Amino acid sequence: MLPHCVQTFPVMLLFAFWSLFLVLTVRAAGVTVYGQIPLGITSAASATATQPAAYNTTVLNPPEIPNPAPATAFTLSLQSTSASVSSGLSIPIKGTFFGFSIEMSVITQLFGTNSSYLQVPLLNLLANIQERAGAVHVRVGGNTQEFAFYVDSLPEDRAISKQKADTNNPTQTPAVIYTMDLFYMLANISALVNVKWYLGVPFNDTSDFRLQIVEFGEAVLGDNLLGIQVGNEPDLYSAHQHRNSSYSPQNYANEFGEMVAALAADSNVPVRNNLIGPSVSGTWSPEDVWNTGFITQYTESLSALSVEHYPTDNCFPEYGIGVYHDPQTEFSDFLNHTSGVALCAPYLNSTKIAQAAGKPFLMFETNSASCGGFPGISDSFGGALWALDYGLQMAYSNFSGAMLHIGGQNVFYNPFTAPPTNVSRFFDWTIGAVYYSALISSEVFGSTNTSQIIDLQGNDGSIYTPQYAIYENGALARVALFNYMTDPSGKNDYTATITVVGGTVPSSVQVKYFLSDSVSTKDNITWAGQTLGGIHEVDGRFQGTLKIVSISCDTSANTCPIPVQAPAFALVFLTTPANVATVTFSTSVYTATKNTATVAASVLATSNGMSGKDWELGSTSSGSNNAAQRRARVEYAAVLGGAAVVVLKLLL
Ligand SMILES: *[C@@H]1O[C@H](CO)[C@@H](O)[C@H](O)[C@H]1NC(C)=O
Ligand SMILES: *[C@@H]1O[C@H](CO)[C@@H](O)[C@H](O)[C@H]1NC(C)=O
Ligand SMILES: *[C@@H]1O[C@H](CO)[C@@H](O)[C@H](O)[C@H]1NC(C)=O
Ligand SMILES: *[C@@H]1O[C@H](CO)[C@@H](O)[C@H](O)[C@H]1NC(C)=O
Ligand SMILES: *[C@@H]1O[C@H](CO)[C@@H](O)[C@H](O)[C@H]1NC(C)=O
Ligand SMILES: *[C@@H]1O[C@H](CO)[C@@H](O)[C@H](O)[C@H]1NC(C)=O
Ligand SMILES: *[C@@H]1O[C@H](CO)[C@@H](O)[C@H](O)[C@H]1NC(C)=O
Ligand SMILES: *[C@@H]1O[C@H](CO)[C@@H](O)[C@H](O)[C@H]1NC(C)=O
Ligand SMILES: *[C@@H]1O[C@H](CO)[C@@H](O)[C@H](O)[C@H]1NC(C)=O
Ligand SMILES: *[C@@H]1O[C@H](CO)[C@@H](O)[C@H](O)[C@H]1NC(C)=O
Ligand SMILES: *[C@@H]1O[C@H](CO)[C@@H](O)[C@H](O)[C@H]1NC(C)=O
Repeated sequence: MLPHCVQTFPVMLLFAFWSLFLVLTVRAAGVTVYGQIPLGITSAASATATQPAAYNTTVLNPPEIPNPAPATAFTLSLQSTSASVSSGLSIPIKGTFFGFSIEMSVITQLFGTNSSYLQVPLLNLLANIQERAGAVHVRVGGNTQEFAFYVDSLPEDRAISKQKADTNNPTQTPAVIYTMDLFYMLANISALVNVKWYLGVPFNDTSDFRLQIVEFGEAVLGDNLLGIQVGNEPDLYSAHQHRNSSYSPQNYANEFGEMVAALAADSNVPVRNNLIGPSVSGTWSPEDVWNTGFITQYTESLSALSVEHYPTDNCFPEYGIGVYHDPQTEFSDFLNHTSGVALCAPYLNSTKIAQAAGKPFLMFETNSASCGGFPGISDSFGGALWALDYGLQMAYSNFSGAMLHIGGQNVFYNPFTAPPTNVSRFFDWTIGAVYYSALISSEVFGSTNTSQIIDLQGNDGSIYTPQYAIYENGALARVALFNYMTDPSGKNDYTATITVVGGTVPSSVQVKYFLSDSVSTKDNITWAGQTLGGIHEVDGRFQGTLKIVSISCDTSANTCPIPVQAPAFALVFLTTPANVATVTFSTSVYTATKNTATVAASVLATSNGMSGKDWELGSTSSGSNNAAQRRARVEYAAVLGGAAVVVLKLLL
């Protein structure tokens, strides 16, 4: 694997040009302009200019329908309880399964300048997941953690600054300089939204470990600190010239031991069992590290075992290393179930080993391709289906969590992107399709910490129509259905008929659909009828009317037919008969077409994910389509919702 190039220097170089560009041009459609735009320019067309990757508009062609195409009708016979599932159910999975991995160097853009100046869209985006999962897990780190160092203060009370440090790394990852305010900032975010943090301790220099991140992290974050990563992709240290060419898994294991000893000798580090490793990325297998005795030797210090991995190396376009991959050719590799299965296969031995050792196994950093992803894939609806399937497959493979990586403006795969800091007053945020994958997975697993998932392999194991069942508190709770194909004619829509073994289907089920016209699209993506908006339109709140389809089941035949269009993802909520009896759906009509019935948000109290109605910050009913008005409201709400914490986002 080559480096994940989430550097910021190119961004800084681009900055002057880009800022000017932003000010002078506004996409003909879709940009919301707030207040006084300099020079009074409100619109201009600029379809041809090259945009930073996070706003790239490349649209690929969806793959052809496979020949033969998979069957368009099939039955899923599901055991009613987990106890009767003979094999294959995962360990219990939390709704926090998908979290975010945020490169340290971009936190000024994403989080805010300092602890009293937080980005409201970030809070909303995190709150959406917290509402569904109970919490959100965020890792702050990446290549930039290794050279990070502490200073007492920075101008503007900044939490973070940058300095070019690592000239050996082709990505020119900057060194992050941080102050105490970084920890206050994280604590202030956690006071507003239940965010739990992973941090990384610098590991570039074993003679000078710079333990302040651990000391201050533990002191300020307390229980909101989940763990400390020791070494980020040590299997690439040699290639990046951070260690000598003979650097081995045994060397890493030894250095991990040096870190354990250094922490033990530091009286400012009270917690002794929260370390995470080895975070190898595929150049070494995890077994290479297990074979050193790593787990038994450090079991008292380890809170989790970790790996990092990107399916494809796309470093060529930016750095001229590796080979060129044509996005159009690669697209189909992301649009079938084989991808997630193949990505998990190398780790199945390790997830067993982790279970035996009583440690969670984490995918600490991942996304669609290293060095920023692929235009037209990473940010497409198809990319979102892929990430969701990959996430569910990791859960089925007994991973306990996975962090989707977020870099700067110059990557394609960001779940969300903040505008450059000094133009953030004029533009809202941009959502990446894979944010929806993370959000949806939080509904797939819910907030009880008891969900177990199984890959059903129905429809003769078609790789284009994967399906999963989720058992919660021991009972069949939800079914997840994918359709990877794109066919506007409707000929490749399918109907999955659910039948329950050892029980009866409820009289109706509720279905939330994840929809777009094509796997290629980047806009017009909706989850249960709602969207977060297009480029520069996102304030983190869902827009539009929540749409849940109620489908009547045939209780005497014990069947529920669930239509799934091409392309789409459907999450089917099966409630227990007792719950169904307490809920009435006045629009509960099943027809063969899609989205015919809608249900008010209040009835979703029985499903996961819609309990945030009391909190304006993450409200699902925005009430107003006037973006400026929404923005003012959300900022007001953030101040109110923050209780003791004042969140300031300057209004124009
Ligand atoms: C943003 O910052 C860049 C670089 O510091 C500067 O050149 C540019 O004028 C700024 N743009 C705005 C709109 O303030
Ligand atoms: C999108 O990114 C690709 C690859 O970097 C580039 O060739 C293309 O010009 C970009 N397109 C736009 C519209 O920015
Ligand atoms: C925090 O950042 C904001 C915005 O850059 C700045 O106005 C303020 O002075 C900084 N410091 C404090 C303590 O708020
Ligand atoms: C490690 O990083 C620190 C802080 O950026 C730097 O001062 C130091 O020279 C680095 N050490 C090595 C061995 O690279
Ligand atoms: C937020 O950060 C400021 C420091 O800038 C601190 O004074 C305040 O107590 C913090 N609030 C919380 C809830 O941590
Ligand atoms: C390479 O570095 C490791 C420690 O990281 C050291 O044990 C080993 O002796 C070094 N090898 C050479 C050839 O310098
Ligand atoms: C699993 O990993 C262990 C430890 O590295 C190794 O001994 C064993 O051979 C591996 N088993 C398989 C099936 O790969
Ligand atoms: C499915 O995806 C896998 C892995 O990404 C790829 O190797 C394979 O070619 C794809 N199959 C088809 C038919 O596109
Ligand atoms: C996941 O763990 C469970 C419980 O140990 C086991 O039964 C199941 O086979 C594992 N799944 C995989 C894919 O290894
Ligand atoms: C789920 O687990 C988290 C700890 O990871 C805990 O804080 C939370 O209370 C648990 N939720 C339930 C419903 O038990
Ligand atoms: C979004 O969907 C609407 C309705 O289907 C359609 O009219 C519009 O053209 C679509 N926009 C884009 C950018 O695809």
